[in-house]
Amino acid sequence: MALLEVDKVTKRFGGLVAVNDVSFSVNAGEILGIIGPNGAGKTTLFSVISGFAPPTQGDVRFDGHGIVGISPDRLVRRGLIRSFQIVQTFADMSTLDVVTTAALTRRPIREAIDYAAHVLGRVGMAGKEHLTPATLSLQDKKLLELAKCLATDPRCILLDEVMAGLTMAETEAPMAVVRELNRQGVTIVMVEHVMPVIMRLATRIVVINFGEKIAEATPEDIVKDQRVIDAYFGDELDA
Ligand SMILES: Nc1ncnc2c1ncn2[C@@H]1O[C@H](COP(=O)(O)OP(=O)(O)O)[C@@H](O)[C@H]1O
Ligand SMILES: [Mg+2]
Repeated sequence: MALLEVDKVTKRFGGLVAVNDVSFSVNAGEILGIIGPNGAGKTTLFSVISGFAPPTQGDVRFDGHGIVGISPDRLVRRGLIRSFQIVQTFADMSTLDVVTTAALTRRPIREAIDYAAHVLGRVGMAGKEHLTPATLSLQDKKLLELAKCLATDPRCILLDEVMAGLTMAETEAPMAVVRELNRQGVTIVMVEHVMPVIMRLATRIVVINFGEKIAEATPEDIVKDQRVIDAYFGDELDA
């Protein structure tokens, strides 16, 4: 059964159509990859799904219920959460504070603190509880972004380029976390530029170009699709 359904979603910013009539669904337990060039509308799509930006047209359903107009915090309580591509942190909070705040979604404060420490350990950040996020490496900032999502006990996570900017070696830790989460039943939708990552993790891939969905297929088939090659791999192949 589809856990998440995106139904003919359009998002305009003034005259700019950032997302144009996009539909796809995500099955419970799946890892769906979303790829597309910069500016294609991927982050905007996540903002629409997660309640940060209402669609201009179209519908989004989570677990069979329409969720357009529901605030992000209420969606988090229902089990739908996004990560942010640009990691923003509060200067005077420790990583433990940040993750504890997320854990408060479902837990009283004392439990939330313990759970946050547990989640930081799970993403490989044990020992870094008292650092301030600003001092973390990019890899740790990305892991913290994952930990924040995890601490809310999501059913479905939208991950926006959590591996971007990392070396292949550095992607191993977040990839292992994503796999482990998925094994535990969490449905994952991930926007990712790092092709080897998406190819290894995703069960299905949706390709967005200029706001429109141009393809949807398994990783094996997507790389053979001529429109995808033209839109997405063209620059790389020319280079
Ligand atoms: N809040 C906004 N206001 C105006 N234009 C926006 C806004 N957010 C994104 N856009 C524009 O929408 C398009 C898609 O952006 P985005 O969703 O960030 O693409 P991607 O994540 O695929 O790189 C871009 O042209 C971008 O400049
Ligand atoms: Mg983006």
